[in-house]
Amino acid sequence: MLNFLIFGPPGSGKGTQGVRLAGKFNLLHLSTGDMLRAEIAAGTELGKKMSLIMSKGELVPDEVVIEMIANKIDGSSGCAGFLFDGFPRTVAQTAALEDMLNKRGMKIDSMLVLDVDHDELVKRLILRAQDSGRPDDSDPAVIENRIDVYKSKTEPIIAYCRERGIYEPVNGMGGIEEIFERLAVLMQKHF
Ligand code: AP5
Repeated sequence: MLNFLIFGPPGSGKGTQGVRLAGKFNLLHLSTGDMLRAEIAAGTELGKKMSLIMSKGELVPDEVVIEMIANKIDGSSGCAGFLFDGFPRTVAQTAALEDMLNKRGMKIDSMLVLDVDHDELVKRLILRAQDSGRPDDSDPAVIENRIDVYKSKTEPIIAYCRERGIYEPVNGMGGIEEIFERLAVLMQKHF
């Protein structure tokens, strides 16, 4: 099994590319943002609790997403590995993921980091706000907070993964198709 992180700030294209790459390489696409939004849409107690945090652009507690991911890994079958999107988002989540994978005889094989200019991130999210219905896209102040939270709490994971030799930067500027090709070439080398 091969395990990839698709990593980058809000609006960098993790979800867009993650779905396509998972299809190409027969990986299970695991997006904690999608899982949390599904809880909100289903009106669960967890969804109700997490909704306010997410609408402000803050991170939900580590233990919530770690448990979600562990359940998905244990409930999976028939895939060639996992593509983690929007997880991990803190160094603590990264250590928990490593531990989870190690206990199951796996590891993180590559961290693919999409590098996108700040103005392009904001442009993409504001454009999506027109029809996404995502409360965290509709307020420019929340978009800026999400980017700040990424820089302070999530970006330190890059140094952590760089030390482990799994960091692979990718130019995330340009068209969706050309970025997909850049990512696919890097991933193919691991198979
Ligand atoms: P999450 O759902 O992970 O959101 P995010 O990181 O803010 O990322 P986005 O979905 O906004 O962007 P993306 O990088 O996936 O880009 P996308 O492909 O969608 O998390 C939401 C919230 O949930 C968090 O704020 C937090 O509260 C909580 N959460 C989730 N995981 C958590 C965790 N592990 N720990 C704690 N809290 C957690 O693209 C964006 C837009 O740009 C789309 O409209 C797309 O069509 C467009 N686009 C993409 N690529 C291009 C391109 N090349 N050119 C033009 N447009 C493009």
